[in-house]
Parts: sequence; C-alpha cells; structure tokens
Amino acid sequence: MNNDFIKILAFEVRDDEKCFFEEAAKRLHLETVLRPDILTVENTAECQGFTGVTTLGMSRLSREVLDGLKQAGVKYISTRTVGYNHIDVAYAQSIGLHVSNAEYAPESVAEFTIMLMLLVLRKYKPAVYRQNVNDYSLGGLCGRTLKSLTVGVVGTGQIGQAVIRSLSGFSCRILAYNRSPRRELEPYASFVSLEQLYSESDVITFHLPLKETTRYMVNPHTLSLMKDGVVLINTARGELMDQKALIQGIESEKIGALALDVFEDERSIYHESRINDIIANRDMAYLRQFPNVAMTQHMAFYTESAVEEMVECGLRGIVEMHRNGCWAKELTAFTL
Ligand code: COI
Repeated sequence: MNNDFIKILAFEVRDDEKCFFEEAAKRLHLETVLRPDILTVENTAECQGFTGVTTLGMSRLSREVLDGLKQAGVKYISTRTVGYNHIDVAYAQSIGLHVSNAEYAPESVAEFTIMLMLLVLRKYKPAVYRQNVNDYSLGGLCGRTLKSLTVGVVGTGQIGQAVIRSLSGFSCRILAYNRSPRRELEPYASFVSLEQLYSESDVITFHLPLKETTRYMVNPHTLSLMKDGVVLINTARGELMDQKALIQGIESEKIGALALDVFEDERSIYHESRINDIIANRDMAYLRQFPNVAMTQHMAFYTESAVEEMVECGLRGIVEMHRNGCWAKELTAFTL
C-alpha cells in the first residue's frame, strides 16, 4: 500500500536516530519531519497537517496535549518506547486518537540489568573512585558472587524473562513473581508469592510497567519484608520505588546496595547535558553520593539494535493504525 499521504511529525529525535528515520521513511513511503524538542501544549498547533506524531518518553501526553493534537487534526500517536505511562491512553482513545507503543529486543535492558547487579555486588563504583586517586587498597571492596545468592525477579514480561534466562548462566537460585506464572520459565526460576520473593531474595530486580497499582511498590512496608542488606535494581521506572524509603533504607543499611537506571522526576533532567544547570532534586544528589548506590541516566535500553527497532516501531505503528483503522486494541505493540 502506498503511504505517500501519511505525514509524521517526530519529536525528541536524537542525532543517532536520524539515519534510521530516513531509511524507514523511504522504505514505508512516508513523509517525516524530525525535531529534537519534546511535544508540549505549546507546540501542538504545529502538528497541523500531520497524520501522526511520534515521541519518546520525555513528552508528557496529558489531556491538554491530547486535546491540542486532536484540534490540530492528528489521528495517530506512537511512542517509540515500550512504557507508555507518559500518555493518558484512556483519554486519547475517548477522543478518538489511536495510540501505539514500541517493542524492541529485551536483551538491551536485560543485559544492562545484569551489569548493574554485578557492578554493585563487586563494588565497582568505589573501586573506580580509588583507581582515579591512586588508591589501590582492597579494604571494603570484597564482593559476593551471584552463584551464592538468591535473585528475585519481579515481573516476567519480555524483559523479566530475558533477565531470568541470562541469570541462569550464573547458577544462582532464581525466584520469580508474576500475576500469572510462566511455565516455560520453570526450568530456570521458581514462581513464588511476592512476599516469599521479598523475604528470601538477596538481590531483587523489578521489571513492571508503571501503573497506579505498581507506583511506590517499594515502600517502607515492603522494605520491611525484605532481607537486611538487600540489593535492589531498577531499570524500569523510577516511580516504582518511593525515594524517601530508599534513602531511609540506605541510611539504616536495610538496603545493602542500590542500582537505579531510572529516577522519579528524571524527565526534566535525563538525556541532556545539565553540566551548567542548577538541578533542584535533592533526593537524586543525596542518593548519588553513597558508595553503594550506582545511578545511570535511563540508558538500559540504549543499544544500536534497540534504537533501530524503536524508530521502526514508531513509524510502523502509525502506518498500521492508519491502514487497519484499528482501535480495537487498546494499545498495539509491533514485533519486528
Ligand atoms: C522504554 O522503552 O520504555 C524506555 O524506558 C526507553 C526510554 C527511551 C524511555
């Protein structure tokens, strides 16, 4: 089918995405306009004349923004991300806007998760600090092997599954929690209740979408159910964890180590250089200074293959919604 009449305005386009946009637009016969800024209420009027818009995760598609898109005549929205907590999908659908998300190979996030796990278990952060100042001492840097530990994986969607499969190579005991246990993972992991996972795991990694039911699922109460010295990993969404509880947990040594690729309120901070900015986020600055807290700038997804797939999904999502006129599915994911 010829898609010449489909015009797509792409927001939040990074330089490394451009070649993939050009290649996919040519192949799908689309007209695309690429811009680096986020989609806001102020620039929705500029979407006039476009069939669809695509964004990444920094734009907040609130009711006001969605109303603006509707008024501008936009019909389709695609997010080039797996998560879509930045979009009021229910409202979008109630005003007749179709929304799709992306799906990319889960290994990008899964491998980064394993890396963070190893990095905090082997005290890489303080070791690197010492190297930089010619301190070659070993005191305080003794680590633990994964093989000797129980790792809990909360959420066994695509990413959780990939984490479990990779972890199985380290011969650790793996506990998993999911609303519906997955039989195909039984050779690698034991499905248990969340309470059992919390009470028996030395390391816990979270792979759940952000929803009202998962917001702050790590809080003072759930932390109290965990082992003393528990290691927590978050490569999903910052809001899964109550930051005040994390700070309290690190200070009291209830939490033995923490690795966060994501952070609540990261939207106004991450993915740009803020080197000359005054960053008004005390929790972030405070947590970052602990030797047993490793933080990265929401980059677990960031591999060459994932970037290509995200762009492809962003454009194909709009084409598919346009072709099928579908809004039967609440939100459609496309597998490459
Ligand atoms: C996702 O795909 O959900 C991510 O977290 C990636 C990021 C660019 C928002």
